[in-house]
Amino acid sequence: MRRENDWVVRPARPKDLEEVFSLESYWLFAPHWSKAQLEEELKRTDSIFLIAEFSGSAIAYFIGRVFEGELQVLSLSVSPRHLRRGGAERLLTEAFLKARLKGCARVTLEVSERNLPALSLYQKWGFQIVGKRAKFYNDGSSAFLMDKLL
Ligand SMILES: CC(C)(COP(=O)(O)OP(=O)(O)OC[C@H]1O[C@@H](n2cnc3c(N)ncnc32)[C@H](O)[C@@H]1OP(=O)(O)O)[C@@H](O)C(=O)NCCC(=O)NCCS
Repeated sequence: MRRENDWVVRPARPKDLEEVFSLESYWLFAPHWSKAQLEEELKRTDSIFLIAEFSGSAIAYFIGRVFEGELQVLSLSVSPRHLRRGGAERLLTEAFLKARLKGCARVTLEVSERNLPALSLYQKWGFQIVGKRAKFYNDGSSAFLMDKLL
C-alpha cells in the first residue's frame, strides 16, 4: 500500500554508503559504482545525493549532478522489499525541487530499453525519449536518452 507519509527524504551521509552500495550491486540496471566512487560523490558540490527512509530505515537513493543548467540523473534505486510504495517518486520530487533551486531548467537521463519499471516511471513523470545509444549496457540492451523540462 502507498503510504506517502512513511517516507522521509534527506541528503545522503557517509553512514548510508554501505546500504547504497548494496542496492547498487543488487540491481542489474544500476551503474554499479564502487564504494570509493560513492564516497567521492558525497563530497561533490555539483551532486544531488539523496536518501529516502521508510519507517526510519534508508531504503532508496537518488544521485544526480547539476551541469550547465541541467540535472543529469545518474542513479536511482529502491530496495526490492519496498517497491511500488512511492519511494522513487518521493526522491524525484525532492531532487527536482533542489535542481530548480540550483537553476536547472531540464533533467536528462539514460535508461535501458529493457528496464520497464523505470521507463514507466519516467514516462509517468513526463519524460520524452530524445535519442538512443545502441547496445549501451552489458546485457546488450540499448539506452534511451530521455529528458524533461523542469
Ligand atoms: C524503477 C524504480 C526506481 C521504481 O521505484 P519504485 O519506488 O518502485 O517506484 P514508485 O513506487 O515511486 O512508482 C512510481 C511509478 O513508477 C512506475 N513503476 C514503478 N515500478 C513499476 C513496475 N514494476 N511496473 C510498471 N510500472 C512501474 C509506475 O508508473 C508507478 O506509478 P503507479 O504506482 O502510480 O503506477 C525501482 O523499480 C528500482 O529501483 N529499480 C531498479 C533500479 C533501476 O532500474 N533504477 C532506474 C535506473 S534508470
